[in-house]
Amino acid sequence: ALITLRQLLDHAAERGYGVPAFNINNMEQGLAIMKAAKAVDAPVILQASRGARSYAGDIMLVHMVQALAETYPTIPICLHQDHGNNEATCLSAIRHGFTSVMMDGSLEADMKTVASYDYNLDITRRVTDCAHWVGASVEGELGVLGSLEKGEAEAEDGSGAEGELDHSQMLTDPDQAVDFVQRTGVDALAIAMGTSHGAYKFSRKPDGEILAMSVIEEIHKRLPGTHLVMHGSSSVPQELQDLINRYGGQMPQTYGVPVEEIERGIRHGVRKVNIDTDCRMALTGQFRKVAMENPAEFDPRKFLIPAMKELETLVRDRFERFGTAGNA
Ligand code: G3H
Ligand code: 13P
Ligand code: NA
Ligand code: ZN
Repeated sequence: ALITLRQLLDHAAERGYGVPAFNINNMEQGLAIMKAAKAVDAPVILQASRGARSYAGDIMLVHMVQALAETYPTIPICLHQDHGNNEATCLSAIRHGFTSVMMDGSLEADMKTVASYDYNLDITRRVTDCAHWVGASVEGELGVLGSLEKGEAEAEDGSGAEGELDHSQMLTDPDQAVDFVQRTGVDALAIAMGTSHGAYKFSRKPDGEILAMSVIEEIHKRLPGTHLVMHGSSSVPQELQDLINRYGGQMPQTYGVPVEEIERGIRHGVRKVNIDTDCRMALTGQFRKVAMENPAEFDPRKFLIPAMKELETLVRDRFERFGTAGNA
């Protein structure tokens, strides 16, 4: 059955574990994630971006997740809207059967312009009221994702966000976080601590200067009962970069968020950990391998089966390391 984010994260907080939230766009991603979850008895967050909804179509996406829930009746699943940009995106998701939405008011609805605090507060409170009336959960975001190393805020499309922004605005302010959670009533809060979306987060293994995990500890001290969310939390594993590049890919060397830093976050109130890039890399690495090793192959299943296997291995590892395993 589908459960809400609140139900899932309350349980995670009680028992001190974190839950990876994997982005999905298609059946193969869903099947691989559920297979891993079943193998280690982990609850699951499946999240769909606006892009995923238009790729698969709302009806296809929701029925697919319901089919996954039917296939794996012992595994709780939360279906979450990732980075909802306005009321329409969030409410239409709920209407289609999503049990949770992210209202990302850190950027304006164009997802390019950095929003004012008042805008974020107002739109997040309105969406939270509506969602709670009908039993869905809400994740808000305070602070702007982006690279402390490059001094760049990041828009949803991965390009630089518009608006004047200094280093400190790219880290969530703990006092503002207290005010935001109290006044919006959100179920979970995404915070900014120097991560960005995509593969190119850091040009070296991150230290406390460019990945400010201390911000999480500060916020958790002030808001011990609030479920914190880390975005941009792919680890961009070296072995997946190598796999892609060994088979004709051209990904420049890059560094993601080390899994041990995420584990540290989980010890300080992080309950939801967003991962998309690593999953994309797992699939694409195997597509490339099959394509190069067997150029005569044209049955898509011959590409998709090893790709799903690679994704399943990755997902299982995160369930184990985040402590999600054994908690379904
Ligand atoms: O927030 C970004 C996620 O990785 C989703 O990406 O908008 O290309 O589906 P997408
Ligand atoms: P990654 O690009 O690091 O996987 O982050 C995904 C994310 O934050 C989705 O909201
Ligand atoms: Na989200
Ligand atoms: Zn995100």
